[in-house]
Amino acid sequence: MNRPAPVSRILGTGHYLPEKIVTNDELSTYVDTSDAWIQERTGIRQRHVAEPAIATSDMAAEAAKRALEAAGVAASEIDLILVATVTPDHQLPATAVFVQQKIGAGPVPSLDLAAACAGFVYGLTIADQFIASGAAKRVLVIGVELLSRILDWKDRTTCVLFGDGAGAVILGPAEESTAANGKRQGLLATHIQSDATLAQSLWIPAGGTRLPITAALIDEAENKVHMKGQDIFKVAVKNLFSSSKKVLEKSGLGPDDIDWICPHQANLRIIDSAVNMLGADKEKVLVNIDRVGNTSSASIPILLDESIRSGKVKSGDTVLMCALGAGISWGAAIVTI
Ligand code: UT7
Repeated sequence: MNRPAPVSRILGTGHYLPEKIVTNDELSTYVDTSDAWIQERTGIRQRHVAEPAIATSDMAAEAAKRALEAAGVAASEIDLILVATVTPDHQLPATAVFVQQKIGAGPVPSLDLAAACAGFVYGLTIADQFIASGAAKRVLVIGVELLSRILDWKDRTTCVLFGDGAGAVILGPAEESTAANGKRQGLLATHIQSDATLAQSLWIPAGGTRLPITAALIDEAENKVHMKGQDIFKVAVKNLFSSSKKVLEKSGLGPDDIDWICPHQANLRIIDSAVNMLGADKEKVLVNIDRVGNTSSASIPILLDESIRSGKVKSGDTVLMCALGAGISWGAAIVTI
């Protein structure tokens, strides 16, 4: 099969995690849980939690500044800002406009996209299309979540899982760029998909137009995240596998051509099962869920940036990313760094 030439590539990455760390043992003092249960069922040991003065756009702007620096791109050169988040600063306007202001970008289109944990893969896909059409040259894609503000801290089935943070990449034209190992750099394939059948298995019931907020709904925590974990678990393994297969097929690659798998960090057991189904080598799987928890749309770009900065993922390495979350929405992408 002829491999399609990439049109866009990652020019630089960055991430931001709030300083404050909450351990499983600390959580066990507010809810009926234990470090042993959380580690065994999810792989999480701790998560970062933003202090009250921090909003989503603050974390996003920090990650963006680090990505711009890594890319050697000025904020004024960015011509599209995509912020994947389900925890915006405000319902109106988009968080992306605050990011635009904080990083000092020009009067460029800036918008939020809500695809939950798959948000970053959705963002990459959209950015790639803008670059392919010539409508944009330098795109800032951010995945950012301040989930600690939308959790019910009395609900042990959700509050132990999530964390706060931001990750960002700068995407630019792939041109003929080649890494030192001779590989063409760029985004080789993407696949995104959504299905509302399980919309109510991971959602915030109240606070939108369907069920406007009332004092009674707040008392019942209907404005916080509700999840039927088992429902999501089953489709997560199946769809992470199928979307990863799709991008492998689209790019003409096999599991052995992939240097690293950078999966959404929701649950170590989900990751293990999907990687097993794919027949990929476990040694290739990047993981930070133990330190960071599930940061939804920020999960992949945080892990990618950490892995690049630590020297694990190198220029010329081919990385498979895959994610699934609320919607349900899911997707995968393959990129050579
Ligand atoms: O990123 C967005 C997408 N989200 C996901 O991909 C999450 C997918 N789901 C999961 O990762 C898992 O379903 C969970 C980690 C959420 C839950 O793990 P599980 O193995 O599916 O547990 P479960 O829901 O079947 O619950 C087993 C038991 C229950 O008790 P009983 O009924 O057996 O007595 C729960 O009440 O564990 C109990 N439990 C807890 N116990 C201690 C649930 N949460 C906790 C907790 N601490 N935090």
